Amino acid sequence: MTARSDARVLVVDDEPSLREMLAIALKRSGYSVVTEAGVRAALHRISNDSDAFPVVITDLVMPDGSGLDVLGAAKKRASSTEVIVMTAHSTVDAAIDAMRAGAYDFIIKPFSPAHMMAQTAKALEKRALQDENSSLRAKLVRLQPEPSEFGSSPPMVALADMVGRIAPTKTTVLITGESGTGKERIARALHAHSDRKAGPFRVVNCGALPEALMESELFGHQRGAFTGAVQAREGIVREADGGTLLLDEVGELPLSLQVKLLRVLQEKRVRPVGGTEEIPVDIRLLAATNRDIEADVRAGTFRQDLYYRLNVIRLRLPPLRERGSDIRELAHHFLAQFATDQNKPVRSLAPEALRALDAYTFPGNVRELENIIERAVALAQSNAIGLGDLPPEVSGTSGLAMPFVTSLPPEGIRLDEVIGEVERRLLLEALERAKGVRTNAAKLLGLTFRTIRYRLEKHGIDVGDGAEEDNGPDSSPGRSRQ
Ligand SMILES: Nc1ncnc2c1ncn2[C@@H]1O[C@H](COP(=O)(O)OP(=O)(O)OP(=O)(O)O)[C@@H](O)[C@H]1O
Ligand SMILES: [Mg+2]
Repeated sequence: MTARSDARVLVVDDEPSLREMLAIALKRSGYSVVTEAGVRAALHRISNDSDAFPVVITDLVMPDGSGLDVLGAAKKRASSTEVIVMTAHSTVDAAIDAMRAGAYDFIIKPFSPAHMMAQTAKALEKRALQDENSSLRAKLVRLQPEPSEFGSSPPMVALADMVGRIAPTKTTVLITGESGTGKERIARALHAHSDRKAGPFRVVNCGALPEALMESELFGHQRGAFTGAVQAREGIVREADGGTLLLDEVGELPLSLQVKLLRVLQEKRVRPVGGTEEIPVDIRLLAATNRDIEADVRAGTFRQDLYYRLNVIRLRLPPLRERGSDIRELAHHFLAQFATDQNKPVRSLAPEALRALDAYTFPGNVRELENIIERAVALAQSNAIGLGDLPPEVSGTSGLAMPFVTSLPPEGIRLDEVIGEVERRLLLEALERAKGVRTNAAKLLGLTFRTIRYRLEKHGIDVGDGAEEDNGPDSSPGRSRQ
Protein backbone atom coordinates (compact mmCIF):
# COMPACT_ATOMS: atom_id res chain seq x y z
CA MET A 1 0.00 0.00 0.00
CA THR A 2 1.40 3.37 -0.89
CA ALA A 3 1.17 6.16 1.57
CA ARG A 4 -0.42 8.66 -0.73
CA SER A 5 -2.54 7.60 -3.67
CA ASP A 6 -5.94 7.50 -2.04
CA ALA A 7 -5.10 9.46 1.08
CA ARG A 8 -7.74 11.88 2.27
CA VAL A 9 -6.75 14.59 4.69
CA LEU A 10 -9.15 16.50 6.89
CA VAL A 11 -8.10 20.07 7.67
CA VAL A 12 -9.84 21.87 10.52
CA ASP A 13 -9.17 25.55 11.19
CA ASP A 14 -11.39 28.56 11.74
CA GLU A 15 -9.10 30.76 9.67
CA PRO A 16 -10.12 30.60 6.00
CA SER A 17 -6.74 31.67 4.61
CA LEU A 18 -4.94 28.93 6.49
CA ARG A 19 -7.45 26.30 5.38
CA GLU A 20 -6.97 27.42 1.84
CA MET A 21 -3.18 27.47 2.03
CA LEU A 22 -3.12 23.94 3.41
CA ALA A 23 -5.71 22.68 0.91
CA ILE A 24 -3.63 23.97 -1.98
CA ALA A 25 -0.38 22.54 -0.66
CA LEU A 26 -1.96 19.18 0.15
CA LYS A 27 -3.65 18.87 -3.23
CA ARG A 28 -0.42 19.74 -4.93
CA SER A 29 1.19 16.85 -3.04
CA GLY A 30 -1.48 14.51 -4.38
CA TYR A 31 -3.88 14.20 -1.45
CA SER A 32 -7.59 14.75 -1.55
CA VAL A 33 -8.62 17.32 0.99
CA VAL A 34 -11.71 18.01 3.06
CA THR A 35 -11.82 21.21 5.09
CA GLU A 36 -14.00 22.17 8.03
CA ALA A 37 -14.17 25.57 9.72
CA GLY A 38 -14.77 24.54 13.31
CA VAL A 39 -14.91 21.84 15.94
CA ARG A 40 -18.60 21.07 15.62
CA ALA A 41 -18.48 20.73 11.85
CA ALA A 42 -15.37 18.55 12.12
CA LEU A 43 -16.96 16.24 14.69
CA HIS A 44 -19.97 15.86 12.44
CA ARG A 45 -17.77 15.09 9.46
CA ILE A 46 -15.66 12.56 11.35
CA SER A 47 -18.59 10.56 12.61
CA ASN A 48 -20.67 10.68 9.41
CA ASP A 49 -18.12 10.23 6.67
CA SER A 50 -18.18 6.75 5.17
CA ASP A 51 -14.41 6.24 5.63
CA ALA A 52 -12.17 7.35 8.44
CA PHE A 53 -9.53 9.94 7.54
CA PRO A 54 -5.98 8.60 7.63
CA VAL A 55 -4.69 12.04 8.61
CA VAL A 56 -6.38 14.95 10.36
CA ILE A 57 -4.71 18.35 10.68
CA THR A 58 -6.45 20.48 13.25
CA ASP A 59 -6.05 23.86 14.88
CA LEU A 60 -5.99 23.76 18.66
CA VAL A 61 -7.93 26.83 19.76
CA MET A 62 -11.11 27.51 17.79
CA PRO A 63 -14.09 29.69 18.68
CA ASP A 64 -16.43 26.72 19.09
CA GLY A 65 -14.12 24.39 20.97
CA SER A 66 -10.77 22.67 21.20
CA GLY A 67 -8.80 20.75 18.58
CA LEU A 68 -8.25 18.12 21.25
CA ASP A 69 -11.90 17.16 20.86
CA VAL A 70 -11.35 16.73 17.12
CA LEU A 71 -8.31 14.61 17.94
CA GLY A 72 -10.29 12.51 20.38
CA ALA A 73 -13.14 11.95 17.94
CA ALA A 74 -10.81 11.05 15.07
CA LYS A 75 -8.91 8.55 17.21
CA LYS A 76 -12.16 7.10 18.46
CA ARG A 77 -13.45 6.64 14.94
CA ALA A 78 -10.22 4.90 13.86
CA SER A 79 -7.31 4.59 16.23
CA SER A 80 -4.93 4.45 13.27
CA THR A 81 -5.81 8.02 12.27
CA GLU A 82 -2.81 10.28 12.74
CA VAL A 83 -3.60 13.75 14.01
CA ILE A 84 -1.36 16.77 13.62
CA VAL A 85 -2.24 19.60 15.99
CA MET A 86 -1.25 23.15 15.09
CA THR A 87 -1.46 26.23 17.20
CA ALA A 88 -0.36 29.83 17.46
CA HIS A 89 -0.73 29.67 21.23
CA SER A 90 2.26 27.55 21.97
CA THR A 91 2.28 26.63 25.60
CA VAL A 92 4.07 23.69 27.08
CA ASP A 93 0.84 22.49 28.66
CA ALA A 94 -0.94 22.47 25.31
CA ALA A 95 1.86 20.47 23.72
CA ILE A 96 1.81 17.97 26.57
CA ASP A 97 -1.95 17.59 26.40
CA ALA A 98 -1.86 17.04 22.65
CA MET A 99 0.95 14.52 22.73
CA ARG A 100 -0.60 12.67 25.66
CA ALA A 101 -3.87 12.52 23.79
CA GLY A 102 -2.01 10.76 21.00
CA ALA A 103 -1.20 13.53 18.53
CA TYR A 104 1.36 12.57 15.92
CA ASP A 105 2.95 16.00 16.02
CA PHE A 106 2.44 19.44 17.44
CA ILE A 107 3.25 22.26 15.03
CA ILE A 108 3.55 25.88 15.99
CA LYS A 109 2.16 28.59 13.71
CA PRO A 110 3.44 30.11 11.57
CA PHE A 111 4.93 27.11 9.80
CA SER A 112 6.10 26.56 6.27
CA PRO A 113 3.75 24.55 4.03
CA ALA A 114 6.74 22.36 3.17
CA HIS A 115 7.17 21.39 6.80
CA MET A 116 3.50 20.50 7.12
CA MET A 117 3.69 18.41 3.93
CA ALA A 118 6.73 16.56 5.28
CA GLN A 119 4.96 15.78 8.56
CA THR A 120 1.80 14.69 6.73
CA ALA A 121 3.81 12.33 4.57
CA LYS A 122 5.55 10.89 7.63
CA ALA A 123 2.28 10.45 9.48
CA LEU A 124 0.91 8.57 6.49
CA GLU A 125 4.00 6.43 6.23
CA LYS A 126 3.64 5.49 9.85
CA ARG A 127 0.02 4.62 9.25
CA ALA A 128 0.70 2.66 6.09
CA LEU A 129 3.21 0.63 7.98
CA GLN A 130 0.72 -0.04 10.74
CA ASP A 131 -1.98 -1.00 8.30
CA GLU A 132 0.12 -3.20 6.10
CA ASN A 133 -0.87 -6.57 7.42
CA SER A 134 -1.70 -8.46 10.53
CA SER A 135 1.79 -9.82 11.03
CA LEU A 136 3.09 -6.30 11.25
CA ARG A 137 0.27 -5.54 13.61
CA ALA A 138 1.32 -8.44 15.78
CA LYS A 139 4.80 -7.02 15.83
CA LEU A 140 3.44 -3.67 16.91
CA VAL A 141 1.67 -5.28 19.81
CA ARG A 142 5.00 -6.67 20.86
CA LEU A 143 6.34 -3.13 20.86
CA GLN A 144 4.53 -2.63 24.15
CA PRO A 145 6.94 -3.20 27.03
CA GLU A 146 6.51 -6.45 28.90
CA PRO A 147 4.86 -5.69 32.23
CA SER A 148 7.91 -7.03 34.03
CA GLU A 149 10.46 -5.22 31.95
CA PHE A 150 11.09 -2.61 34.62
CA GLY A 151 9.72 -4.16 37.82
CA SER A 152 6.32 -4.95 39.23
CA SER A 153 6.11 -2.37 42.01
CA PRO A 154 3.26 0.10 41.44
CA PRO A 155 5.50 3.05 40.49
CA MET A 156 7.33 0.94 37.90
CA VAL A 157 4.15 -0.52 36.44
CA ALA A 158 2.88 3.03 36.00
CA LEU A 159 6.18 3.98 34.40
CA ALA A 160 6.08 1.04 31.98
CA ASP A 161 2.59 2.07 30.97
CA MET A 162 3.79 5.62 30.34
CA VAL A 163 6.76 4.33 28.31
CA GLY A 164 4.38 2.30 26.15
CA ARG A 165 2.26 5.34 25.47
CA ILE A 166 4.93 7.91 24.77
CA ALA A 167 7.50 5.73 23.00
CA PRO A 168 5.78 5.95 19.59
CA THR A 169 5.55 9.77 19.73
CA LYS A 170 8.35 12.14 18.93
CA THR A 171 7.95 14.03 22.19
CA THR A 172 10.99 15.10 24.13
CA VAL A 173 11.22 13.34 27.48
CA LEU A 174 13.15 14.39 30.57
CA ILE A 175 14.13 11.42 32.70
CA THR A 176 15.12 12.18 36.25
CA GLY A 177 16.14 10.03 39.19
CA GLU A 178 19.01 9.26 41.52
CA SER A 179 22.16 7.71 40.20
CA GLY A 180 21.77 4.08 39.14
CA THR A 181 17.97 4.08 39.08
CA GLY A 182 17.81 3.03 35.41
CA LYS A 183 17.49 6.31 33.51
CA GLU A 184 19.51 5.15 30.55
CA ARG A 185 17.63 1.88 30.50
CA ILE A 186 14.33 3.75 30.24
CA ALA A 187 15.76 5.87 27.43
CA ARG A 188 16.75 2.72 25.54
CA ALA A 189 13.28 1.30 26.08
CA LEU A 190 11.70 4.46 24.69
CA HIS A 191 13.82 4.01 21.58
CA ALA A 192 13.23 0.26 21.33
CA HIS A 193 9.47 0.68 21.55
CA SER A 194 9.34 3.47 18.97
CA ASP A 195 9.04 3.34 15.23
CA ARG A 196 12.62 4.63 15.11
CA LYS A 197 13.93 1.45 16.62
CA ALA A 198 15.72 0.50 13.43
CA GLY A 199 17.53 3.86 13.55
CA PRO A 200 20.53 4.73 15.70
CA PHE A 201 20.44 5.26 19.47
CA ARG A 202 23.19 7.56 20.65
CA VAL A 203 24.15 8.73 24.14
CA VAL A 204 26.23 11.76 24.89
CA ASN A 205 27.43 12.57 28.37
CA CYS A 206 27.07 16.34 28.57
CA GLY A 207 29.51 16.71 31.43
CA ALA A 208 32.27 14.55 30.02
CA LEU A 209 34.22 17.07 27.98
CA PRO A 210 35.43 20.65 28.25
CA GLU A 211 33.13 23.18 26.62
CA ALA A 212 35.07 23.65 23.37
CA LEU A 213 35.34 19.93 22.68
CA MET A 214 31.77 19.33 23.73
CA GLU A 215 30.53 21.64 21.02
CA SER A 216 32.22 19.66 18.27
CA GLU A 217 31.27 16.38 19.95
CA LEU A 218 27.64 17.45 19.69
CA PHE A 219 27.49 19.40 16.47
CA GLY A 220 30.58 18.27 14.61
CA HIS A 221 33.18 20.47 12.93
CA GLN A 222 34.56 21.32 9.54
CA ARG A 223 38.02 20.29 8.61
CA GLY A 224 40.41 23.01 9.78
CA ALA A 225 37.78 24.63 12.00
CA PHE A 226 40.36 24.90 14.76
CA THR A 227 43.90 23.76 15.44
CA GLY A 228 43.91 20.02 15.43
CA ALA A 229 40.72 19.64 13.43
CA VAL A 230 42.48 17.75 10.67
CA GLN A 231 39.34 15.91 9.69
CA ALA A 232 35.74 16.90 9.51
CA ARG A 233 33.58 15.36 12.18
CA GLU A 234 29.89 14.66 11.94
CA GLY A 235 28.98 15.18 15.60
CA ILE A 236 26.68 13.04 17.66
CA VAL A 237 23.50 14.96 16.79
CA ARG A 238 23.89 14.03 13.13
CA GLU A 239 24.97 10.50 13.99
CA ALA A 240 21.57 10.10 15.67
CA ASP A 241 19.72 11.25 12.54
CA GLY A 242 16.63 9.10 12.01
CA GLY A 243 16.96 7.74 15.55
CA THR A 244 17.11 8.82 19.18
CA LEU A 245 19.65 10.95 21.02
CA LEU A 246 20.01 10.77 24.80
CA LEU A 247 21.60 13.81 26.40
CA ASP A 248 22.88 12.24 29.59
CA GLU A 249 23.67 14.45 32.59
CA VAL A 250 22.04 17.29 30.68
CA GLY A 251 22.28 19.49 33.78
CA GLU A 252 26.05 19.65 33.20
CA LEU A 253 25.76 21.29 29.79
CA PRO A 254 27.52 24.69 29.77
CA LEU A 255 25.23 27.68 29.20
CA SER A 256 26.74 28.59 25.83
CA LEU A 257 25.97 25.10 24.52
CA GLN A 258 22.50 25.21 25.99
CA VAL A 259 21.77 28.13 23.65
CA LYS A 260 23.11 26.23 20.66
CA LEU A 261 21.21 23.10 21.54
CA LEU A 262 18.01 25.04 21.88
CA ARG A 263 18.52 26.38 18.38
CA VAL A 264 19.03 22.90 17.00
CA LEU A 265 15.81 21.78 18.69
CA GLN A 266 13.84 24.68 17.32
CA GLU A 267 15.20 24.64 13.82
CA LYS A 268 15.92 20.93 13.49
CA ARG A 269 19.21 21.83 11.85
CA VAL A 270 22.82 21.75 13.00
CA ARG A 271 25.69 23.94 12.06
CA PRO A 272 29.08 22.27 12.55
CA VAL A 273 31.82 24.33 14.22
CA GLY A 274 33.51 26.43 11.54
CA GLY A 275 30.77 25.70 9.04
CA THR A 276 28.36 28.06 7.36
CA GLU A 277 25.86 25.51 6.15
CA GLU A 278 23.01 24.27 8.32
CA ILE A 279 22.30 20.58 7.98
CA PRO A 280 18.79 19.25 8.63
CA VAL A 281 18.44 16.50 11.24
CA ASP A 282 15.55 14.34 12.33
CA ILE A 283 16.12 13.18 15.89
CA ARG A 284 14.01 12.22 18.84
CA LEU A 285 15.56 13.83 21.87
CA LEU A 286 15.67 12.38 25.37
CA ALA A 287 17.46 13.96 28.31
CA ALA A 288 18.46 12.52 31.65
CA THR A 289 19.81 13.99 34.84
CA ASN A 290 20.24 13.10 38.49
CA ARG A 291 20.47 16.77 39.43
CA ASP A 292 17.67 18.91 40.75
CA ILE A 293 17.28 20.63 37.42
CA GLU A 294 14.51 22.94 38.65
CA ALA A 295 17.00 24.26 41.21
CA ASP A 296 19.53 24.81 38.41
CA VAL A 297 16.89 26.78 36.51
CA ARG A 298 16.19 28.90 39.57
CA ALA A 299 19.91 29.42 40.11
CA GLY A 300 20.29 30.56 36.50
CA THR A 301 22.74 27.81 35.52
CA PHE A 302 20.19 26.08 33.31
CA ARG A 303 18.20 28.02 30.75
CA GLN A 304 14.50 28.06 31.42
CA ASP A 305 13.57 27.98 27.73
CA LEU A 306 15.66 24.85 27.19
CA TYR A 307 14.18 23.32 30.33
CA TYR A 308 10.67 23.80 28.93
CA ARG A 309 11.70 22.27 25.64
CA LEU A 310 13.14 19.19 27.33
CA ASN A 311 10.56 18.76 30.06
CA VAL A 312 7.58 18.19 27.74
CA ILE A 313 7.06 14.85 29.41
CA ARG A 314 8.75 13.95 32.64
CA LEU A 315 9.59 10.44 33.75
CA ARG A 316 10.72 10.21 37.35
CA LEU A 317 12.52 7.07 38.37
CA PRO A 318 11.94 6.25 42.02
CA PRO A 319 14.92 5.25 44.18
CA LEU A 320 15.20 1.48 44.61
CA ARG A 321 14.46 1.76 48.36
CA GLU A 322 10.97 2.99 47.47
CA ARG A 323 10.27 0.11 45.10
CA GLY A 324 9.34 -2.52 47.69
CA SER A 325 9.13 -5.96 46.14
CA ASP A 326 11.30 -4.91 43.19
CA ILE A 327 14.37 -5.36 45.39
CA ARG A 328 13.77 -9.11 45.66
CA GLU A 329 12.61 -9.39 42.07
CA LEU A 330 15.72 -7.68 40.74
CA ALA A 331 17.98 -9.59 43.12
CA HIS A 332 16.66 -12.86 41.67
CA HIS A 333 16.96 -11.53 38.15
CA PHE A 334 20.63 -10.59 38.67
CA LEU A 335 21.28 -13.85 40.51
CA ALA A 336 20.14 -15.88 37.52
CA GLN A 337 22.14 -13.68 35.17
CA PHE A 338 25.43 -13.80 37.10
CA ALA A 339 25.13 -17.49 37.97
CA THR A 340 24.96 -18.15 34.23
CA ASP A 341 27.76 -15.68 33.43
CA GLN A 342 30.05 -17.07 36.09
CA ASN A 343 28.93 -20.62 35.48
CA LYS A 344 28.18 -21.24 39.16
CA PRO A 345 25.35 -23.39 40.53
CA VAL A 346 23.95 -20.59 42.74
CA ARG A 347 20.16 -20.73 42.65
CA SER A 348 18.70 -18.77 45.55
CA LEU A 349 19.10 -16.20 48.28
CA ALA A 350 18.85 -17.28 51.91
CA PRO A 351 15.96 -15.67 53.84
CA GLU A 352 18.31 -13.63 56.04
CA ALA A 353 20.13 -12.34 52.95
CA LEU A 354 16.80 -11.28 51.44
CA ARG A 355 15.82 -9.53 54.64
CA ALA A 356 19.12 -7.67 54.76
CA LEU A 357 18.57 -6.51 51.17
CA ASP A 358 15.02 -5.39 52.01
CA ALA A 359 16.33 -3.27 54.83
CA TYR A 360 19.22 -1.72 52.96
CA THR A 361 19.01 1.83 51.60
CA PHE A 362 20.83 1.34 48.25
CA PRO A 363 22.34 4.79 47.76
CA GLY A 364 23.58 3.48 44.38
CA ASN A 365 20.17 2.02 43.52
CA VAL A 366 19.81 -0.75 40.92
CA ARG A 367 23.42 -0.51 39.81
CA GLU A 368 24.53 -1.09 43.42
CA LEU A 369 22.21 -4.09 43.78
CA GLU A 370 23.58 -5.49 40.55
CA ASN A 371 27.15 -5.17 41.85
CA ILE A 372 26.23 -6.64 45.23
CA ILE A 373 24.72 -9.72 43.59
CA GLU A 374 27.59 -10.13 41.16
CA ARG A 375 30.01 -10.14 44.06
CA ALA A 376 27.81 -12.44 46.16
CA VAL A 377 27.54 -14.99 43.36
CA ALA A 378 31.32 -14.96 43.05
CA LEU A 379 31.73 -15.47 46.80
CA ALA A 380 28.95 -18.01 47.36
CA GLN A 381 30.16 -21.39 48.47
CA SER A 382 26.84 -23.18 48.32
CA ASN A 383 23.88 -22.95 45.99
CA ALA A 384 22.35 -20.19 48.10
CA ILE A 385 23.66 -16.70 48.76
CA GLY A 386 24.00 -16.19 52.50
CA LEU A 387 24.27 -13.12 54.71
CA GLY A 388 28.04 -13.52 54.76
CA ASP A 389 28.23 -13.18 50.98
CA LEU A 390 26.81 -9.67 51.17
CA PRO A 391 28.99 -6.63 51.82
CA PRO A 392 29.12 -5.48 55.46
CA GLU A 393 27.08 -2.34 54.85
CA VAL A 394 24.25 -4.59 53.70
CA SER A 395 24.61 -7.45 56.14
CA GLY A 396 24.60 -4.90 58.92
CA THR A 397 27.66 -6.26 60.69
CA SER A 398 29.85 -3.29 59.90
CA GLY A 399 31.81 -2.03 62.87
CA LEU A 400 29.21 -2.98 65.43
CA ALA A 401 29.66 -5.90 67.74
CA MET A 402 26.18 -7.18 67.10
CA PRO A 403 23.65 -8.50 67.79
CA PHE A 404 23.63 -7.21 71.35
CA VAL A 405 26.07 -4.99 73.14
CA THR A 406 25.38 -5.71 76.76
CA SER A 407 28.57 -4.32 78.20
CA LEU A 408 30.65 -1.39 77.12
CA PRO A 409 33.69 -2.46 75.08
CA PRO A 410 37.00 -0.77 75.95
CA GLU A 411 36.97 1.37 72.80
CA GLY A 412 33.45 2.62 73.59
CA ILE A 413 30.41 2.65 71.28
CA ARG A 414 28.07 5.07 69.56
CA LEU A 415 25.00 4.55 71.65
CA ASP A 416 22.47 5.93 69.15
CA GLU A 417 23.79 3.72 66.39
CA VAL A 418 23.77 0.61 68.51
CA ILE A 419 20.25 1.24 69.77
CA GLY A 420 19.07 2.05 66.27
CA GLU A 421 20.60 -1.15 64.91
CA VAL A 422 19.13 -3.27 67.70
CA GLU A 423 15.73 -1.75 67.01
CA ARG A 424 16.03 -2.37 63.28
CA ARG A 425 16.99 -5.99 63.72
CA LEU A 426 14.23 -6.73 66.20
CA LEU A 427 11.69 -5.05 63.94
CA LEU A 428 12.82 -7.20 61.02
CA GLU A 429 12.79 -10.36 63.11
CA ALA A 430 9.34 -9.65 64.49
CA LEU A 431 8.03 -8.96 61.02
CA GLU A 432 9.53 -12.15 59.73
CA ARG A 433 7.91 -14.16 62.50
CA ALA A 434 4.59 -12.36 61.97
CA LYS A 435 4.82 -13.08 58.22
CA GLY A 436 4.72 -9.39 57.48
CA VAL A 437 1.51 -8.65 59.41
CA ARG A 438 2.34 -5.51 61.30
CA THR A 439 -0.31 -5.80 64.03
CA ASN A 440 1.11 -9.19 64.99
CA ALA A 441 4.68 -7.94 64.83
CA ALA A 442 3.65 -5.03 67.07
CA LYS A 443 2.27 -7.50 69.66
CA LEU A 444 5.55 -9.41 69.69
CA LEU A 445 7.37 -6.18 70.48
CA GLY A 446 4.85 -4.75 72.92
CA LEU A 447 4.15 -1.82 70.63
CA THR A 448 0.93 -0.29 69.39
CA PHE A 449 0.19 -0.46 65.68
CA ARG A 450 0.84 3.25 65.29
CA THR A 451 4.21 3.00 66.98
CA ILE A 452 5.40 0.06 64.90
CA ARG A 453 4.29 1.80 61.75
CA TYR A 454 6.23 4.91 62.76
CA ARG A 455 9.34 2.89 63.58
CA LEU A 456 9.22 0.85 60.37
CA GLU A 457 8.97 4.07 58.45
CA LYS A 458 11.86 5.55 60.38
CA HIS A 459 14.02 2.61 59.32
CA GLY A 460 12.62 2.63 55.82
CA ILE A 461 11.45 -0.96 56.13
CA ASP A 462 8.91 -1.76 53.47
CA VAL A 463 6.42 -4.37 54.55
CA GLY A 464 5.21 -5.28 51.08
CA ASP A 465 2.61 -7.95 50.44
CA GLY A 466 1.57 -9.05 53.92
CA ALA A 467 0.58 -5.50 54.87
CA GLU A 468 -2.86 -5.51 56.43
CA GLU A 469 -3.78 -2.04 55.29
CA ASP A 470 -2.57 0.16 52.53
CA ASN A 471 0.49 2.27 52.94
CA GLY A 472 -0.26 5.61 51.38
CA PRO A 473 2.14 7.43 49.10
CA ASP A 474 3.40 9.37 52.11
CA SER A 475 4.71 6.25 53.78
CA SER A 476 8.05 6.10 52.06
CA PRO A 477 10.30 8.56 53.81
CA GLY A 478 14.02 8.80 53.29
CA ARG A 479 15.66 6.01 55.18
CA SER A 480 17.64 6.75 58.26
CA ARG A 481 19.69 3.70 58.85
CA GLN A 482 21.59 4.36 61.97
N1 LIG B 1 14.62 -2.94 35.74
C1 LIG B 1 15.89 -3.31 35.57
N2 LIG B 1 16.20 -4.59 35.28
C2 LIG B 1 17.47 -4.98 35.12
N3 LIG B 1 18.52 -4.15 35.22
C3 LIG B 1 18.29 -2.87 35.50
C4 LIG B 1 16.97 -2.37 35.69
N4 LIG B 1 17.04 -1.05 35.96
C5 LIG B 1 18.35 -0.75 35.93
N5 LIG B 1 19.11 -1.82 35.66
C6 LIG B 1 20.57 -1.88 35.57
O1 LIG B 1 21.11 -0.99 36.54
C7 LIG B 1 22.24 -0.31 36.03
C8 LIG B 1 22.02 1.17 36.10
O2 LIG B 1 21.05 1.55 35.14
P1 LIG B 1 21.23 2.87 34.25
O3 LIG B 1 22.61 3.00 33.75
O4 LIG B 1 20.11 2.91 33.29
O5 LIG B 1 21.00 3.95 35.41
P2 LIG B 1 21.16 5.54 35.40
O6 LIG B 1 20.01 6.07 36.16
O7 LIG B 1 21.36 6.02 34.01
O8 LIG B 1 22.47 5.74 36.25
P3 LIG B 1 23.44 7.06 36.36
O9 LIG B 1 22.64 8.13 37.04
O10 LIG B 1 24.55 6.57 37.21
O11 LIG B 1 23.83 7.40 34.97
C9 LIG B 1 22.45 -0.82 34.61
O12 LIG B 1 23.42 -1.85 34.63
C10 LIG B 1 21.09 -1.37 34.23
O13 LIG B 1 21.20 -2.41 33.30
MG1 LIG C 1 23.06 7.03 33.20
